[in-house]
Amino acid sequence: MQLDTKDQVCIFSGRATEALARKVAEKYGSELGNSVVFQYADGEFQPSFEQTIRGRKVFIVQSTIPPTDNLFELLMMIDAAKRASALQVIAVIPYYGFARQDRKDKPHIPLTARLIADMLQAAGVDRIITMDLHADQIQGFFKVPLDHLFGSSLFMPYIRSLDIPTEDILFASPDLGGSRRAGMYAKTLGNSFVICYKQRNKPNEIGIMKLIGDVKDKHVILLDDIIDTGSTMVKAAQLIKESGAKSVRAMITHPVLSGDAIDKIENSCLEELVVSDTIPLKRPSDKIHVLSTDWLLAEAIRRIVNYESINDLYETTIHHKGVIERL
Ligand code: R5P
Repeated sequence: MQLDTKDQVCIFSGRATEALARKVAEKYGSELGNSVVFQYADGEFQPSFEQTIRGRKVFIVQSTIPPTDNLFELLMMIDAAKRASALQVIAVIPYYGFARQDRKDKPHIPLTARLIADMLQAAGVDRIITMDLHADQIQGFFKVPLDHLFGSSLFMPYIRSLDIPTEDILFASPDLGGSRRAGMYAKTLGNSFVICYKQRNKPNEIGIMKLIGDVKDKHVILLDDIIDTGSTMVKAAQLIKESGAKSVRAMITHPVLSGDAIDKIENSCLEELVVSDTIPLKRPSDKIHVLSTDWLLAEAIRRIVNYESINDLYETTIHHKGVIERL
Protein backbone atom coordinates (compact mmCIF):
# COMPACT_ATOMS: atom_id res chain seq x y z
CA MET A 1 0.00 0.00 0.00
CA GLN A 2 1.37 3.42 -0.97
CA LEU A 3 0.72 6.14 1.64
CA ASP A 4 0.05 9.66 0.36
CA THR A 5 2.54 12.31 1.49
CA LYS A 6 0.38 13.70 4.28
CA ASP A 7 -0.22 10.29 5.87
CA GLN A 8 3.41 9.36 5.44
CA VAL A 9 4.63 12.13 7.74
CA CYS A 10 4.43 11.77 11.54
CA ILE A 11 5.75 14.51 13.81
CA PHE A 12 6.57 13.50 17.38
CA SER A 13 8.00 15.33 20.33
CA GLY A 14 10.38 14.55 23.14
CA ARG A 15 9.67 16.18 26.49
CA ALA A 16 12.22 19.03 26.23
CA THR A 17 10.52 21.19 23.62
CA GLU A 18 6.97 19.88 23.48
CA ALA A 19 5.24 23.25 23.10
CA LEU A 20 7.39 24.08 20.08
CA ALA A 21 6.86 20.60 18.57
CA ARG A 22 3.09 21.02 18.91
CA LYS A 23 3.26 24.38 17.08
CA VAL A 24 5.48 22.89 14.35
CA ALA A 25 2.97 20.09 13.77
CA GLU A 26 0.12 22.62 13.68
CA LYS A 27 1.96 24.82 11.14
CA TYR A 28 2.67 21.71 9.09
CA GLY A 29 -1.04 20.94 9.16
CA SER A 30 -1.11 17.81 11.28
CA GLU A 31 -1.44 16.78 14.90
CA LEU A 32 1.48 15.80 17.05
CA GLY A 33 1.96 12.01 16.99
CA ASN A 34 0.95 10.02 20.04
CA SER A 35 3.89 8.98 22.21
CA VAL A 36 4.29 8.47 25.94
CA VAL A 37 7.17 7.98 28.36
CA PHE A 38 6.97 5.25 31.00
CA GLN A 39 8.83 6.04 34.18
CA TYR A 40 10.51 3.52 36.48
CA ALA A 41 10.84 4.16 40.21
CA ASP A 42 14.61 4.68 40.00
CA GLY A 43 14.42 7.40 37.34
CA GLU A 44 14.94 5.10 34.33
CA PHE A 45 12.46 5.85 31.55
CA GLN A 46 11.19 4.34 28.31
CA PRO A 47 9.57 6.31 25.46
CA SER A 48 6.98 4.53 23.34
CA PHE A 49 5.17 5.38 20.09
CA GLU A 50 1.49 4.72 20.70
CA GLN A 51 0.57 4.41 17.01
CA THR A 52 1.95 2.62 14.01
CA ILE A 53 4.86 4.28 12.27
CA ARG A 54 5.60 1.45 9.86
CA GLY A 55 6.63 2.93 6.50
CA ARG A 56 6.30 6.52 7.82
CA LYS A 57 8.71 9.45 7.70
CA VAL A 58 9.11 10.12 11.40
CA PHE A 59 10.23 13.58 12.55
CA ILE A 60 11.21 13.79 16.23
CA VAL A 61 11.46 17.33 17.61
CA GLN A 62 13.75 17.66 20.63
CA SER A 63 16.29 20.31 21.64
CA THR A 64 19.14 18.63 23.49
CA ILE A 65 19.12 21.02 26.42
CA PRO A 66 20.18 19.87 29.92
CA PRO A 67 19.53 17.52 31.62
CA THR A 68 21.23 14.97 29.36
CA ASP A 69 18.11 12.80 29.76
CA ASN A 70 16.75 14.93 26.89
CA LEU A 71 19.53 13.79 24.58
CA PHE A 72 19.13 10.21 25.75
CA GLU A 73 15.35 10.38 25.22
CA LEU A 74 15.95 11.50 21.62
CA LEU A 75 18.39 8.61 21.06
CA MET A 76 15.87 6.15 22.50
CA MET A 77 13.07 7.51 20.31
CA ILE A 78 15.26 7.17 17.20
CA ASP A 79 16.04 3.57 18.17
CA ALA A 80 12.36 2.85 18.83
CA ALA A 81 11.32 4.35 15.48
CA LYS A 82 13.90 2.29 13.60
CA ARG A 83 12.78 -0.91 15.33
CA ALA A 84 9.14 -0.06 14.53
CA SER A 85 10.04 -0.03 10.79
CA ALA A 86 9.82 3.72 10.14
CA LEU A 87 10.80 4.49 6.55
CA GLN A 88 13.01 7.39 7.65
CA VAL A 89 13.83 8.91 11.02
CA ILE A 90 14.61 12.61 11.05
CA ALA A 91 15.81 14.32 14.23
CA VAL A 92 14.67 17.94 14.41
CA ILE A 93 17.08 19.44 16.94
CA PRO A 94 16.29 23.18 17.14
CA TYR A 95 19.12 23.66 19.68
CA TYR A 96 22.05 21.23 19.40
CA GLY A 97 23.40 21.11 22.95
CA PHE A 98 27.10 20.57 23.74
CA ALA A 99 27.96 22.32 20.46
CA ARG A 100 30.45 24.53 22.30
CA GLN A 101 32.61 21.41 22.67
CA ASP A 102 33.41 21.29 18.97
CA ARG A 103 37.22 21.29 19.12
CA LYS A 104 40.03 20.00 21.25
CA ASP A 105 41.62 23.30 22.26
CA LYS A 106 43.43 21.92 25.32
CA PRO A 107 44.62 18.46 26.34
CA HIS A 108 42.50 15.81 28.06
CA ILE A 109 39.05 17.05 27.00
CA PRO A 110 36.32 15.29 24.96
CA LEU A 111 35.05 16.34 21.55
CA THR A 112 31.46 16.10 22.77
CA ALA A 113 29.70 17.63 19.75
CA ARG A 114 31.30 14.89 17.65
CA LEU A 115 30.48 12.19 20.22
CA ILE A 116 26.79 13.18 20.07
CA ALA A 117 26.83 13.08 16.25
CA ASP A 118 28.22 9.53 16.48
CA MET A 119 25.57 8.53 19.01
CA LEU A 120 22.70 9.89 16.88
CA GLN A 121 24.00 7.99 13.86
CA ALA A 122 24.57 4.80 15.88
CA ALA A 123 20.92 5.04 16.97
CA GLY A 124 19.97 5.08 13.28
CA VAL A 125 19.04 8.68 12.43
CA ASP A 126 18.65 9.29 8.68
CA ARG A 127 18.75 13.09 8.64
CA ILE A 128 19.17 16.03 10.97
CA ILE A 129 17.45 19.42 10.90
CA THR A 130 19.02 21.97 13.23
CA MET A 131 19.52 25.71 13.65
CA ASP A 132 22.49 28.03 14.14
CA LEU A 133 25.06 25.47 15.18
CA HIS A 134 27.72 27.02 17.39
CA ALA A 135 30.26 26.17 14.67
CA ASP A 136 29.48 25.34 11.03
CA GLN A 137 32.03 22.53 11.01
CA ILE A 138 29.82 20.44 13.31
CA GLN A 139 27.96 19.54 10.11
CA GLY A 140 31.07 17.60 9.12
CA PHE A 141 30.69 15.35 12.19
CA PHE A 142 27.71 13.73 10.42
CA LYS A 143 27.70 11.32 7.48
CA VAL A 144 23.90 11.64 7.09
CA PRO A 145 22.44 14.80 5.48
CA LEU A 146 22.03 17.79 7.77
CA ASP A 147 19.81 20.78 7.03
CA HIS A 148 21.17 23.83 8.81
CA LEU A 149 18.62 26.62 9.32
CA PHE A 150 19.44 30.16 10.38
CA GLY A 151 18.08 32.59 12.95
CA SER A 152 18.46 35.29 10.33
CA SER A 153 15.21 33.97 8.77
CA LEU A 154 13.51 35.36 11.90
CA PHE A 155 15.76 38.28 12.81
CA MET A 156 16.08 39.94 9.40
CA PRO A 157 12.31 40.54 8.99
CA TYR A 158 12.25 41.78 12.61
CA ILE A 159 15.12 44.21 11.95
CA ARG A 160 13.34 45.47 8.83
CA SER A 161 10.22 46.09 10.94
CA LEU A 162 12.11 48.32 13.41
CA ASP A 163 11.59 52.04 13.04
CA ILE A 164 15.29 52.69 12.43
CA PRO A 165 16.76 53.90 9.12
CA THR A 166 18.96 51.17 7.66
CA GLU A 167 21.98 53.48 7.44
CA ASP A 168 21.83 54.09 11.22
CA ILE A 169 22.03 50.37 12.04
CA LEU A 170 25.39 48.85 12.87
CA PHE A 171 25.85 45.12 13.55
CA ALA A 172 28.22 43.86 16.21
CA SER A 173 29.75 40.55 17.14
CA PRO A 174 30.54 40.05 20.84
CA ASP A 175 33.59 37.92 19.94
CA LEU A 176 35.88 37.12 17.02
CA GLY A 177 34.10 33.79 16.41
CA GLY A 178 30.87 35.58 15.48
CA SER A 179 32.44 38.11 13.11
CA ARG A 180 31.42 36.15 9.99
CA ARG A 181 27.77 36.22 11.10
CA ALA A 182 27.89 39.99 11.78
CA GLY A 183 29.62 40.54 8.46
CA MET A 184 26.92 38.67 6.56
CA TYR A 185 24.06 40.58 8.22
CA ALA A 186 25.89 43.82 7.42
CA LYS A 187 26.38 42.79 3.81
CA THR A 188 22.68 41.98 3.50
CA LEU A 189 21.60 45.42 4.71
CA GLY A 190 24.49 47.13 2.92
CA ASN A 191 25.97 48.60 6.09
CA SER A 192 28.86 47.89 8.41
CA PHE A 193 29.83 45.96 11.54
CA VAL A 194 32.12 46.08 14.55
CA ILE A 195 33.70 43.35 16.69
CA CYS A 196 34.41 42.92 20.38
CA TYR A 197 37.61 41.14 21.25
CA LYS A 198 36.84 38.85 24.21
CA GLN A 199 39.09 36.67 26.32
CA ARG A 200 37.67 34.09 28.71
CA ASN A 201 39.33 33.11 32.01
CA LYS A 202 37.30 29.90 32.06
CA PRO A 203 33.90 28.78 30.63
CA ASN A 204 31.20 31.38 31.41
CA GLU A 205 33.69 33.90 32.85
CA ILE A 206 34.95 36.84 30.81
CA GLY A 207 38.39 38.39 31.23
CA ILE A 208 39.06 41.41 29.04
CA MET A 209 36.83 42.81 26.29
CA LYS A 210 37.84 45.48 23.76
CA LEU A 211 35.83 47.10 20.97
CA ILE A 212 37.21 47.15 17.43
CA GLY A 213 35.39 49.79 15.36
CA ASP A 214 33.42 53.02 15.73
CA VAL A 215 29.85 52.87 17.09
CA LYS A 216 29.22 56.60 17.66
CA ASP A 217 25.57 57.63 17.12
CA LYS A 218 24.62 54.21 15.74
CA HIS A 219 21.82 51.86 16.69
CA VAL A 220 23.85 48.73 17.35
CA ILE A 221 22.53 45.17 17.02
CA LEU A 222 24.64 42.53 18.76
CA LEU A 223 24.37 39.05 17.20
CA ASP A 224 25.21 35.68 18.69
CA ASP A 225 24.18 32.03 18.55
CA ILE A 226 23.90 31.41 22.31
CA ILE A 227 23.21 33.51 25.37
CA ASP A 228 24.06 31.50 28.47
CA THR A 229 24.95 33.46 31.62
CA GLY A 230 24.44 36.72 29.71
CA SER A 231 27.90 37.97 30.78
CA THR A 232 29.15 38.33 27.20
CA MET A 233 26.11 40.30 26.02
CA VAL A 234 25.85 42.58 29.04
CA LYS A 235 29.57 43.41 28.95
CA ALA A 236 29.54 43.99 25.17
CA ALA A 237 26.40 46.15 25.37
CA GLN A 238 27.92 48.29 28.11
CA LEU A 239 31.18 48.73 26.20
CA ILE A 240 29.30 49.72 23.05
CA LYS A 241 26.99 52.16 24.89
CA GLU A 242 29.95 53.79 26.67
CA SER A 243 31.63 54.18 23.27
CA GLY A 244 28.82 56.44 22.05
CA ALA A 245 26.12 54.21 20.50
CA LYS A 246 22.57 55.64 20.51
CA SER A 247 21.03 52.26 21.41
CA VAL A 248 22.09 48.64 21.77
CA ARG A 249 19.88 45.57 21.29
CA ALA A 250 20.80 41.89 20.97
CA MET A 251 19.45 39.16 18.68
CA ILE A 252 20.47 35.67 19.75
CA THR A 253 19.07 32.39 18.48
CA HIS A 254 19.33 30.09 21.51
CA PRO A 255 18.19 31.49 24.90
CA VAL A 256 20.05 29.19 27.29
CA LEU A 257 19.77 31.93 29.95
CA SER A 258 21.24 30.10 32.96
CA GLY A 259 21.17 31.27 36.58
CA ASP A 260 20.35 34.95 36.96
CA ALA A 261 20.87 35.74 33.25
CA ILE A 262 17.36 37.20 32.83
CA ASP A 263 17.90 39.54 35.81
CA LYS A 264 21.22 40.61 34.27
CA ILE A 265 19.52 41.40 30.96
CA GLU A 266 16.77 43.35 32.72
CA ASN A 267 19.34 45.45 34.62
CA SER A 268 21.53 46.02 31.54
CA CYS A 269 21.62 48.91 29.08
CA LEU A 270 20.17 46.65 26.33
CA GLU A 271 17.00 48.07 24.76
CA GLU A 272 15.77 44.53 24.18
CA LEU A 273 16.92 40.96 23.72
CA VAL A 274 15.30 39.16 20.79
CA VAL A 275 15.57 35.35 20.87
CA SER A 276 13.94 32.34 19.26
CA ASP A 277 11.98 29.52 20.93
CA THR A 278 14.51 26.74 20.26
CA ILE A 279 14.78 26.63 24.07
CA PRO A 280 11.76 27.42 26.28
CA LEU A 281 12.21 30.74 28.11
CA LYS A 282 12.73 30.25 31.87
CA ARG A 283 10.37 33.13 32.64
CA PRO A 284 8.78 35.97 30.66
CA SER A 285 10.47 39.38 30.72
CA ASP A 286 9.44 42.76 29.29
CA LYS A 287 12.95 43.08 27.84
CA ILE A 288 12.91 39.72 26.05
CA HIS A 289 11.04 39.25 22.79
CA VAL A 290 10.59 35.67 21.52
CA LEU A 291 10.21 34.92 17.80
CA SER A 292 8.92 31.46 16.98
CA THR A 293 10.77 29.01 14.76
CA ASP A 294 7.54 26.98 14.27
CA TRP A 295 6.86 28.10 10.69
CA LEU A 296 10.53 27.72 9.69
CA LEU A 297 10.83 24.16 10.99
CA ALA A 298 7.43 23.20 9.54
CA GLU A 299 8.37 24.62 6.15
CA ALA A 300 11.73 22.80 6.25
CA ILE A 301 9.86 19.55 6.98
CA ARG A 302 7.42 20.18 4.12
CA ARG A 303 10.22 20.85 1.65
CA ILE A 304 12.29 17.85 2.77
CA VAL A 305 9.26 15.57 2.39
CA ASN A 306 8.56 16.95 -1.08
CA TYR A 307 12.23 16.93 -2.16
CA GLU A 308 12.11 20.72 -2.62
CA SER A 309 15.02 23.07 -2.14
CA ILE A 310 15.26 24.80 1.21
CA ASN A 311 17.72 27.33 -0.16
CA ASP A 312 15.32 30.27 -0.30
CA LEU A 313 14.36 29.69 3.34
CA TYR A 314 17.55 31.55 4.12
CA GLU A 315 16.24 35.10 4.24
CA THR A 316 19.74 36.47 3.97
CA THR A 317 21.02 34.35 1.13
CA ILE A 318 23.12 36.75 -0.85
CA HIS A 319 24.06 36.38 -4.47
CA HIS A 320 27.37 38.13 -4.40
CA LYS A 321 29.44 38.17 -7.58
CA GLY A 322 27.89 34.87 -8.55
CA VAL A 323 28.77 33.23 -5.24
CA ILE A 324 25.96 32.22 -2.92
CA GLU A 325 26.79 33.04 0.67
CA ARG A 326 24.58 32.32 3.63
CA LEU A 327 24.38 33.45 7.21
C1 R5P B 1 30.56 31.75 22.64
O1 R5P B 1 31.43 31.56 21.80
C2 R5P B 1 29.11 31.87 22.31
O2 R5P B 1 28.90 32.29 20.99
C3 R5P B 1 28.43 32.82 23.27
O3 R5P B 1 29.02 34.10 23.12
C4 R5P B 1 28.56 32.36 24.68
O4 R5P B 1 28.20 31.02 24.82
C5 R5P B 1 27.74 33.22 25.62
O5 R5P B 1 27.99 32.82 26.94
P1 R5P B 1 27.60 33.74 28.16
O6 R5P B 1 26.20 34.25 27.96
O7 R5P B 1 27.72 32.84 29.36
O8 R5P B 1 28.61 34.87 28.24
